[in-house]
Parts: sequence; structure tokens; C-alpha cells
Amino acid sequence: MLFVCLGNICRSPLAEGVFRRLVVKEGLSDRIEVDSAGTGAWHVGEQPDRRMRSTAESHGVSLDAIRARRVEAADLVDFDYVFAMDRENLRDLRRLAGRSEDSIALFRAFDPVDGDPDVPDPYYGGTDGFERVFEIVERTSRSILDHIRSEQGWPTNDQPASGESDRNASA
Ligand code: 4NP
Repeated sequence: MLFVCLGNICRSPLAEGVFRRLVVKEGLSDRIEVDSAGTGAWHVGEQPDRRMRSTAESHGVSLDAIRARRVEAADLVDFDYVFAMDRENLRDLRRLAGRSEDSIALFRAFDPVDGDPDVPDPYYGGTDGFERVFEIVERTSRSILDHIRSEQGWPTNDQPASGESDRNASA
């Protein structure tokens, strides 16, 4: 599971942190690897933006261990699911893949609330932009996990895994 935005310091590290918390809570850590990257290289090696870390922290999500990196063509082969935070990121990822790649999707295609197809870039805006990004990322992450769970045939928490085969698809 790879989330990709432009700088890898605001939107995609938030998605990484929020999704990882969800995966841990649902006991799926051994099945789903969560990572993030950027299409641009300006911030490689840096921590997520201070404003994004502080908004995430206020919701109990720490992004402190994340460091920005640039997405590589190999990522598009290695990860079964790649989510672009906006349409420009999606275009750039498709160009990097060099062929049609079913694993690449637009993050907000899974947003349960209809609206803009892009997660807005909060970098040049005020604090409310970061809070808004958090809301979008939180609800869409839940929806993505439900989608993957049903695609992989994994039971939900309220359906005990009795008789489950020993599948261990790595997402
Ligand atoms: P992100 O936000 O793509 O959500 O990490 C941005 C961060 C930095 C820049 C652009 C977007 N920048 O141009 O430096």
C-alpha cells in the first residue's frame, strides 16, 4: 500500500500515518505494508511539514518517524495498491509506470463523500486546510481498507476468522 503526493511532506505522509493506525487497530499489520512517497524530490529526507504533524498529532496520529522519499518505477511493481492524492500525481505515476497499471488509483475515488476528485494541497494555505485534509484522509482510508478487505476476501472484525484459509496476500 503506497500513497503518493507531490512533496511527500503533507498529504501522503498523513495518509501513511492514518492508514497504518487503522491497519494496526484491525490486526492486519502482518498482511499490509504501508508507505508513502512523492513525485517531486525537493523535500527528500525531510520530516513531514510541521503543520501536518501538528494536525495529525491533535488526532492522535504521529508522523514523526516518516522521512520524505521520491517514488521510483520499482515501487509501481512492488506495491499491489498505489494511491495518488490528486489527478496530477496520478498522471505523473502513469507516466513513470510507462504502461497501463491497474494497481494505480486516485485516492478520492474511494471517498464516501462526493466532491472534488483531488485531496487539496494544503502547503500554501492556512491551518484549516490541514484539518480538512485530515477529514478527507480519515474517511477515505476507512473506505479503502473495506475495499481491500473485500477484494482479498479477508473477514471483517465482526466476522470471526474461523475456517479461514491460510491466505497471506501482501498488499
Ligand atoms: P504534498 O504538499 O504534496 O501534500 O506533500 C506539497 C509540499 C511541498 C510542495 C508542494 C506540495 N512544494 O512545492 O515544495
